[in-house]
Amino acid sequence: MRENDPILDAVFGRTSLVTEVFQPMRVLLVASEATPFAKTGGLADVAGALPGGLARLGCDVTLVIPAYREVFSKGLVIEPTEMTFDVPIGTRRLTARVLRGRLPGSQATVFLVANDDCFDRPTLYGGAEDYPDNAERFIFFSRAALEIGGRQDRPFDIIHCHDWQTGLVPAYQKLLYQSWPMLSQARTVMTIHNMAYQGLFWHWDMLLTGLDWKYFNWQQMEYYGQLNLLKTGLVFADAISTVSPTYAREIQQEPGGCGLEGVLASRSDVLTGIVNGIDTTVWDPQTDPHIPRPYSAADFDDGKYAARVALAARLGHAAPDARPLVALVGRLVEQKGIELVIELLGRMGGSGRAHFVILGTGNNGTEEALRRAAASFPGTIDVVVGFDEGLAHLVQAAADITLVPSRFEPCGLTQLYALRYGTIPVVRATGGLVDTIVDTTPETLRNGSASGFVFEAFDALALEHALTRALDAHSNRELWQGLVRQVMAQDWSWETSGREYLHLFERTRQAPPVAIK
Ligand code: ADP
Ligand code: GLC
Repeated sequence: MRENDPILDAVFGRTSLVTEVFQPMRVLLVASEATPFAKTGGLADVAGALPGGLARLGCDVTLVIPAYREVFSKGLVIEPTEMTFDVPIGTRRLTARVLRGRLPGSQATVFLVANDDCFDRPTLYGGAEDYPDNAERFIFFSRAALEIGGRQDRPFDIIHCHDWQTGLVPAYQKLLYQSWPMLSQARTVMTIHNMAYQGLFWHWDMLLTGLDWKYFNWQQMEYYGQLNLLKTGLVFADAISTVSPTYAREIQQEPGGCGLEGVLASRSDVLTGIVNGIDTTVWDPQTDPHIPRPYSAADFDDGKYAARVALAARLGHAAPDARPLVALVGRLVEQKGIELVIELLGRMGGSGRAHFVILGTGNNGTEEALRRAAASFPGTIDVVVGFDEGLAHLVQAAADITLVPSRFEPCGLTQLYALRYGTIPVVRATGGLVDTIVDTTPETLRNGSASGFVFEAFDALALEHALTRALDAHSNRELWQGLVRQVMAQDWSWETSGREYLHLFERTRQAPPVAIK
């Protein structure tokens, strides 16, 4: 028989000081979308990559997402489990079937909540209009996620919730699941990806939550007569984080807080900002299957040229344009500063200085305005309306410059992908863009910190000025090549951000839970 050996004990699970010290942190991560299963934006990239990042740091992570129709179209392995249960929603009971998936390249367990009435639909949240029963769908999902957590065999330390769709989870954990041993000791962390989407529903939806009406008050779940799911999460969670330090400051004031600045300021002692990482197994020009020729900082010229040839063919051009390629990939909505881009295209489309490619989806108005701009300057402006993951990679690789002229930006991922692909971002100084991009000046070039071109005022002239500075720099070949090599060497992987989440979880686990009246 082996004697007490701390290392073997750790490996074979005997109780000893060592096993206690190395007991992995157990995290239940609940999100409404995660790459590669289902995606509408950056939330999916974060929820799909953070579990792997945390697992690499020794955490034991379980991710729960809805089983939308989309998750079955990706060729991913998704299997049934024995787990099925009913969730009370008002006076009805909805059945949840639980499926199991895998996050490529990660040890994290993935559970998918299936209910065809709720999730077997063409899109995640609706089209131009949200689905009318989104309150019901995400109340059901939030509660089902806790039911799954409660049926596991080891207790969770942290329940990590993301955005309004999971805002009820902290409230449920404190008010309905205190007798569940796998959940009762956990602390809850609410991460805000965007204050502009709060999950606001009419007051009668409070009945669907199964929670006491006494919580429907201005200090907890109510917001000017409506039910506010994000606010609920912010009030009931033990800690709050958002996706950059600058956005963490902006949301404690108007207009960044979108009406919840008071709630956030009152919780500033537990509010932190952690910049998103990027998944370098998905976004890496050296291994990207969506680009024709892999490249690194050593041969980016060749790699980018091959990508431009492929992109030109995709866009129906005989050959790539010799002018610098300026790209924008993103949701074509007010947040992203699309009105500035529309004005910019009108002003610069005829200048001959650059070729523009825009890939995105938005409302009919912006899509139409961009199409009109493209029609006015054929051969100079390409607009692709649609959501196309592979094309997003190709555009980032082919472009010289990427535009992120956001009105506000909690973190932003497209500027980080751009850096990795040797594409220089032109960004507005807001939110996470401030924390990730350093303006190019003689001094920042000298000290090696320059990574893009930054403008302050939300105004098309300021954008045009920043883009012109970028195009001038592009025409100086030596300067540009140095800048590209510099940004490609930056590390925005989950390594650093994952550690910051781990510290946040550790702090939160050791602090008492927030007291609820
Ligand atoms: P947000 O989450 O606010 O939309 P982010 O910059 O954080 O902004 O993340 C956007 C993500 O969605 C990136 O992965 C980007 O490549 C992707 N994306 C946005 N629009 C499209 C599109 N039309 N086709 C493909 N990918 C897109
Ligand atoms: C949101 C924000 C974006 C952020 C993303 C992931 O959708 O708009 O700035 O990068 O979430 O956190």
